Amino acid sequence: MGVVRQLRQISADDEGVDIAFRADVHAGLSQKQKAIPARWFYDATGSALFEDITALPEYYPTRSETDLLTRHAAEMAAAIGPGRAVVELGSGSSTKTPLLLDAIEPAAYVPVDISGDFLRGSADALAARFPGLPIYPVEADFTQRVALPREICPLPKLGFFPGSTIGNMVARTAIDLLRNWREALGDGALLLIGIDRVKDIGVLELAYDDPAGVTAAFNINLLERINRELGGDVPVENFAHRAVWDDVHARIEMHLVAACDLEFTIDGQRYHMAKDETIHSENSHKYGPRDASLLLRAGGWTPVATWDDADPAFALILAEATAFRSAP
Ligand code: TRP
Repeated sequence: MGVVRQLRQISADDEGVDIAFRADVHAGLSQKQKAIPARWFYDATGSALFEDITALPEYYPTRSETDLLTRHAAEMAAAIGPGRAVVELGSGSSTKTPLLLDAIEPAAYVPVDISGDFLRGSADALAARFPGLPIYPVEADFTQRVALPREICPLPKLGFFPGSTIGNMVARTAIDLLRNWREALGDGALLLIGIDRVKDIGVLELAYDDPAGVTAAFNINLLERINRELGGDVPVENFAHRAVWDDVHARIEMHLVAACDLEFTIDGQRYHMAKDETIHSENSHKYGPRDASLLLRAGGWTPVATWDDADPAFALILAEATAFRSAP
């Protein structure tokens, strides 16, 4: 079967620049606490840098999650059953996907990712590895409503959302996303979701600020992308990467810190930043067992199994689409 065709669900203006990127950058930089939504990290350069992050010794989530998928594949397969269409949200390089696909005998695979080039490469690689499996890549922002390929309509679905990406959303957005995908995947759907646990602050901060500076380069690439795609003149060399634990929100916050007073222009719009002022570029929320369960239930998913014996701690949770009925 191989890669059947690619659906593109992202809009661009006449110059081929993503309209939403431009709008988000200006809106975000006009706020008192400057902030840019994290999805804009993932152009081709950012996606490649993120792959480098996943290979860092300090970045445990990928290792822990891969370990769980490897060791518990048979149990997961028994709980999931064969014949499902696997819809992966933010598939990136799809490195962990073969572990799952090998175990469960899927009927189709639908990788959804915002980075089109990356998506094509990884879909081709998977097609070579699973020659009998129909693959329908969808280039889309999975935080928006995504139209699924018609061919998978009659199949039961398994949402696959690894990497603790759900942790990159604040609770309200995370719940909106879970509810949207509960609707999109339909009754009888399952969701296998990776959720990072609260843990030692030193371990957390090193995972998001590695000594080799790869995470710093990934964060800074956001500014370079603004200069490349929006014709900005952001003085990139005057920004530093910062990752700190915020105990109130139970999250790592990532910021781009101005090293001195500075100014720049994007689309003729002038911005000023004082020394030490920051652009908030990412959150990574961490969840205890009850927190994770509450989050999933609020999003319309009922947890049915948890695998979380990884070290450093990380959880893969299997949940089923909650049937709608009135309950006290
Ligand atoms: N989902 C990943 C996480 O929260 C994304 C991520 C890892 C990330 N390292 C990062 C995002 C550094 C921004 C910057 O772990």
